[in-house]
Parts: sequence; C-alpha cells; structure tokens
Amino acid sequence: MKPSTQRLTQAVIHLDRLGRNLRLLQAQAGGRPLWPVIKANAYGHGAEIVARHLLSLGCHELCVADVGEAAALLDAGLRARFLVLSATLPEHAEALVAYGCEPVVCTLEMAEALDRAAQQAGRRVAVHLKIDTGMGRIGIRPEEAPAFLERLRTYSRLRIRGLMSHFPRADEADKGYSLEQIGRFRRVAEATRGFGIEFRHMANSAALLDLPGSHFDAVRPGIALYGLPPSRQIANPRVRDLEPVLEWKTRITFLKEVPAGTGLSYGHAFRTERPSLIATVPVGYADGLDRRLSNDLELLVGGLRCPQVGRITMDMSLVDVTRLRGQVALGDEAVIIGRQGGDQVTADELAARLDTINYEIVSAIAQRVPRIAVGALR
Ligand SMILES: Cc1ncc(COP(=O)(O)O)c(C=O)c1O
Repeated sequence: MKPSTQRLTQAVIHLDRLGRNLRLLQAQAGGRPLWPVIKANAYGHGAEIVARHLLSLGCHELCVADVGEAAALLDAGLRARFLVLSATLPEHAEALVAYGCEPVVCTLEMAEALDRAAQQAGRRVAVHLKIDTGMGRIGIRPEEAPAFLERLRTYSRLRIRGLMSHFPRADEADKGYSLEQIGRFRRVAEATRGFGIEFRHMANSAALLDLPGSHFDAVRPGIALYGLPPSRQIANPRVRDLEPVLEWKTRITFLKEVPAGTGLSYGHAFRTERPSLIATVPVGYADGLDRRLSNDLELLVGGLRCPQVGRITMDMSLVDVTRLRGQVALGDEAVIIGRQGGDQVTADELAARLDTINYEIVSAIAQRVPRIAVGALR
C-alpha cells in the first residue's frame, strides 16, 4: 500500500446536506430551473465534487466566474452547460466558444469577438445580456437594452438566450431598493419581448428566499446551496433549515506543557498566564485561516471550545487545551468550522470576528486543503 501523504487538515463536504439544500431551494423556486453558482471552487467547497453531485441530482446548467473555471471542469469530464458570470475580454472568445460556454455579454466588442470566434469554429454561441438595474457593476443601462439587442441580432452566430441582472441589496431587511430593481428588470423584459429570449433571470440566494417577484424564468443561488445564510436579515424562515455543507477539521500533531509566562509563536503575541497545555495543529494562513484571527478564535477539541493562542503562522497554529489535560492526545480532531460534541463553530462566527461575510471565510480556504466528500445519499 502507498504510504499516506494525506493532509491532516481537511474540508469535509457533506453531499447529503448539499442535496437537501438543493431540494429546499428548488421548492422555493417553484419548479423553475435552478442554476447553481459554483464559481470560486464552489465557494471553497470543491468545484468538481460539488458540480458532479449537483449534476447527479438533475441540475444541467452551472454558473462560473470565468472560462477557466468551466474549462477545468469540462476537461475533468463533466458534462454541463456553463453560464459565465463575469465580464471578460475578446481574448477569451475562442475558448468560450470552444468550450461551449454561455457568456454574459455587455459590450459590443465582446459580442463581435464571440461572433467571429463562433464563425471560425462553425458554431453558434448562446449569450446572456446583462442589465445593470442597480448593482452598479457590469451591465448595460436598462434604457439601452432594445437598441443593444438590435445590434446583437445582427451577429448571425449569437443566440441571445438570456436577459439577466443582479442584486446588491437583496439580503437586507428593507427590500425597497430590490423591488425597484425588479420593476426595472420587468420593464426591460417587456420592452424586449420581441427578441425571443428564453430566460430572464436575476435571483441570487437572498432574492430566491425573500423576493418571489424576482424569480422570473430561472434562479442562480450560490451561498444558500452551501447551507449558509446570505445574511442575518433573511426573513424567510426556511433559511434556518439550510444545513452547512462544509466542515473544516484538523488534528493535533504536538502537545506541550509550558509554564506560566511563556511567550507563544511569532512576536509572542500571547503569553501564558498559568501553566498551560498547548496543542499544535497543522493549519495556518496558507490554508486560508486568516492571520487576523490570531488570539480571537476558538476550535472545538474533545467537544469543548478551546482558544487559539499566539499568532497563526503559515502552516501551524496553537490551541490552549489546558482544560482537557489528561483527556487529549496526539491525533485528536480539532474543528475550525463544524460540529463536535454538542457545540458548533459556524463560518458566520469566524466572519463576525473578522467583520466580513461567510462567503469570504469559505471561499478563502486554500487549494491545498483537500476536499473530502462524504454522505452521498440523496
Ligand atoms: C451574477 C451573480 N449571480 C448569482 C450569484 C449568487 O449569489 P449568492 O451566493 O448570494 O446566492 C452571484 C454571486 O456573487 C453573482 O455574482
């Protein structure tokens, strides 16, 4: 047998939970197609694992950020349609066509480049026109849509399959701005009815949960599929039934008794106040554990919350396990995100400590952390 090189820090991906979250969100979408957003390595959950499972559960179309993300999955043998969400440049036109991607389009330069690439490949390319109804990022202005579509129509190799928009504030308690956006999008949809566009779509997770008027012809949830709330202000009670798909775990590789007054790790940013039992775990900022969490984090060991102490380093961190003296051993599990015993640490807890959002916590988990799929039950 090959000797083990398996990393001791792992992200455990619960596919059964992913499946249940998908069903919950599909019920919210009322039978409309649901196009999972799996960009950024499926928000850190492992794009290939997640995509394969979603396809096995009947999803057909997946959303990625760029052509490279789609290409990696297609090269790995996945069979899916890929909607490419970010604006890109003409230098990607050939690859977008070759990989059969459906890019978001919001410039004539890109439309022309795609048309040319499709011509050369003897293919057609389906595109989605992005309307900026108020995100203030990519997209044409609503009033430009009819004329822009007239121009797109002149490119014989383009099929305008979708009309889409995005929300900046659907996760807030006050839905006033989002409702205005829906109104704007609806008016564009009506003004462009004659173009035979198959799908109008704008709902992210927050809108899928809280804004039924945004569901149109398809929905594009990301974060909720992974069992994480888009924010604390979601009104839909079903948000509490979502199950976090990812757990982030490591193992104790070293244990040492140190006297009171011992400085720990770089800069001695922590000094023990009493004789302490200090565990080392092989996880650091190169794994995506933000260094700013140093001395402001708790890991679950032996079912108890134990404080992380000293600066988080590139590959290792320290945990004060003094309260587990006599009950803790080398190889024991330490949970960074997830459940152990009766307790749980969530991505939201880490996000709150860092004054950021759960999206950033999970998508920052580094590539070198293996994603281990478990629980493939449907
Ligand atoms: C264009 C677009 N649609 C949908 C989503 C999914 O958003 P969420 O993860 O909040 O559901 C994103 C994510 O950033 C996005 O950029």
